[in-house]
Amino acid sequence: MNRKIICALDTGDIHEALRVVGRLSGHVGAFKIGHGLTLPYGLDVIRKLQDAGATRIFLDLKFHDIPNSVALAVREAARQHVWMLTLHIAGGPAMMTAAVEEARSFGDTDAPLLMGVSVLTSLDQHCLTDFLGVQRPLSEHMLQLSKLAIETGLDGVVCPAPELASIRPAVGHSAILVTPGIRMPHEDHGDQKQIGTPRQALEDGADYLVIGRSLLNADDVEATLAGFNLAETSH
Ligand code: C5P
Repeated sequence: MNRKIICALDTGDIHEALRVVGRLSGHVGAFKIGHGLTLPYGLDVIRKLQDAGATRIFLDLKFHDIPNSVALAVREAARQHVWMLTLHIAGGPAMMTAAVEEARSFGDTDAPLLMGVSVLTSLDQHCLTDFLGVQRPLSEHMLQLSKLAIETGLDGVVCPAPELASIRPAVGHSAILVTPGIRMPHEDHGDQKQIGTPRQALEDGADYLVIGRSLLNADDVEATLAGFNLAETSH
């Protein structure tokens, strides 16, 4: 079991998702779901996955709305005993504060962890500057938004592997950093541009690694995990 690994359930088929949970729940710490499963099946899908062994659910719906609406979304996620969820830092301090207050109202043990999304990895500098009007360099923008998220009370941020070395020192050791785009050197990068190996990402300060296709397509999950060359974690 490696609790630092979060398996991305990137499928729109509940049966496939339940099969993956059955195969991997003894090996990974959590499962990430998004619109692909929640839109067709509603939030009931969370309980079904929990019953199948996915004790920790990371709800990646990237909330971004006025503060009252985001607080309502956080409340519904917390009621489903979601372990971690995402919201866009670009929603601003008032939106994040509303989310933090709502989460905290569930108490220390039941509050979902709130993770900020700074800049989608599908955006590049050209898009950021020429279409969205952001003049500062993309890395700097990501860093400043990440700092704002932690100062506003979020538990952590999503952080691509290449940015870990600069964002970890800026947000401090208690902020949670979740890193997607994980690939082994020999693997096809697919559509991922900002990538890192599992070991390097953890050494650079990631707390959790989001891994999708490398695990979903693995013939031998144990061999794939062993190949990541990580220390086992059971806490
Ligand atoms: O298959 P792969 O390991 O590339 O999947 C990565 C997962 O992490 C997907 O669910 C993707 O949506 C998510 N993600 C990402 N890049 C981000 C944030 C999330 O790839 N910046």
